[in-house]
Amino acid sequence: MTLETPPAARTCRLCGGSVSEIFDFGRQPVSNAFVKAEDTGREAFHHLAVGICSSCSMVQLSDELPREAMFHEDYPYRSSESALMRQHFEAFAGNLVRTELTGPDPFVVEIGCNDGIMLKTVSDHGVRHLGVDPSRGAAEAAAAKGIDVRVDFFEESVAREIRQAHGRADVIFSANTFSHISYIDSIFRGIDELLADDGLFVFEDRYLGDIVEKNYFDQIYDEHFYLFSLHSVRAMVERFGFELVDAQRLAVHGGAVRYSVARPGARKPGTALPRLFAHERDLGLNDRVKLARFGVNIRRIRHDLVALLTELKGKGFRVAGYGATSKSATVLNYCGIGTDLVECVYDSTPEKQGRLTPGSHLPVVAPERFAEDYPDYVVLFAWNHAEEILAKEQAFTAQGGRWILYVPDVHVLGGGGLAAAA
Ligand code: SAH
Ligand code: TYD
Ligand code: ZN
Repeated sequence: MTLETPPAARTCRLCGGSVSEIFDFGRQPVSNAFVKAEDTGREAFHHLAVGICSSCSMVQLSDELPREAMFHEDYPYRSSESALMRQHFEAFAGNLVRTELTGPDPFVVEIGCNDGIMLKTVSDHGVRHLGVDPSRGAAEAAAAKGIDVRVDFFEESVAREIRQAHGRADVIFSANTFSHISYIDSIFRGIDELLADDGLFVFEDRYLGDIVEKNYFDQIYDEHFYLFSLHSVRAMVERFGFELVDAQRLAVHGGAVRYSVARPGARKPGTALPRLFAHERDLGLNDRVKLARFGVNIRRIRHDLVALLTELKGKGFRVAGYGATSKSATVLNYCGIGTDLVECVYDSTPEKQGRLTPGSHLPVVAPERFAEDYPDYVVLFAWNHAEEILAKEQAFTAQGGRWILYVPDVHVLGGGGLAAAA
């Protein structure tokens, strides 16, 4: 099966401007389609390439997958697997309850609530809420925590029904989901329908500035249809009749930005905005020629990573992976890494265990089995959770195990390198 679309003149999905290519990763599987051994012949592939619009500067993928091909009953991602992310959303939600949700009977809607990582705190405070998420397995995990959920893709018609049933929302929140939605026009019409006049729409997503600065090329995969910058987000929200009123950089997922959006004039713009816009201009985030340098770094990382893994194999070392992330789909498939170079990948998500990584077919194994037979080296695909994972797996490092990172460049942690483990 293929999800490839015929090559078309690239026009911006948002403004119709022309999109010029930044990088082409070639053929890729659906990033979260962890596959059963007996189904490897039936995987769907698509073409992954990223470009920038010369009019509105939105960085976007060239090919759009049907949303049901990514988000469905068996979508395996579970936000709450990370303690860091649980703390991050608890802090955000606690603050929201204290500062924004102070009126009588406030109402919060979350687009892409997944297993309820954010709404759990809102619900614990007794605040009226609704999570919307099309991935039934994840949504059921939220419902099991007592969270109100609707299993659906958020869009204009859904927003209208929510408004009719529950009234308008004081806050609409979305984390690591807004960038996944190519049909953003319908989403904004839905937000317009649902948001109270003085309400706030807050969303956070990976930040293009960090991706480019730190060579996080693996943040580019099917689900991340848009890679946001402040410039492109401002153009986007204004296009749909809203105002960008604040932005805050976040350290999670290697670097993200939390954007606050309101109806024009409804909120006083935050003082941090001018500085953040200036930083982006310095980085050249709107400049295709500067962005093209990113491509040079991506090719170098592929070369260095494959060379290191090949050398380790040649010397008889065993290498495994840690974190069956969506990001790893881009790394493994773009670099052509299979079980010849990395024997398996350890991951705590039960929904991924027992399956194979999409396209590259590394077995996903429960971390409890890691210590039974330590490899010599581990590629840390969940590099954004390095602190948490290295703390958990101290015993591996203590007995001489080494961690390989491939961003911002290929390197072995601890400075021991090849000699130390030999
Ligand atoms: N907010 C969580 C989950 C991010 S994963 C976090 O930050 O960790 C992205 C989620 O968006 C998935 O659970 C997916 O099912 C959901 N999603 C995708 N398209 C959506 C849409 N149109 N409306 C609501 N949720 C959507
Ligand atoms: P994440 O980096 O959030 O995902 P993505 O690239 O898909 O956006 O995913 C982290 C993965 O790592 C997830 O599958 C869970 C796993 N994980 C562990 O196995 N152990 C851990 O301690 C942590 C924090 C995550
Ligand atoms: Zn555009």
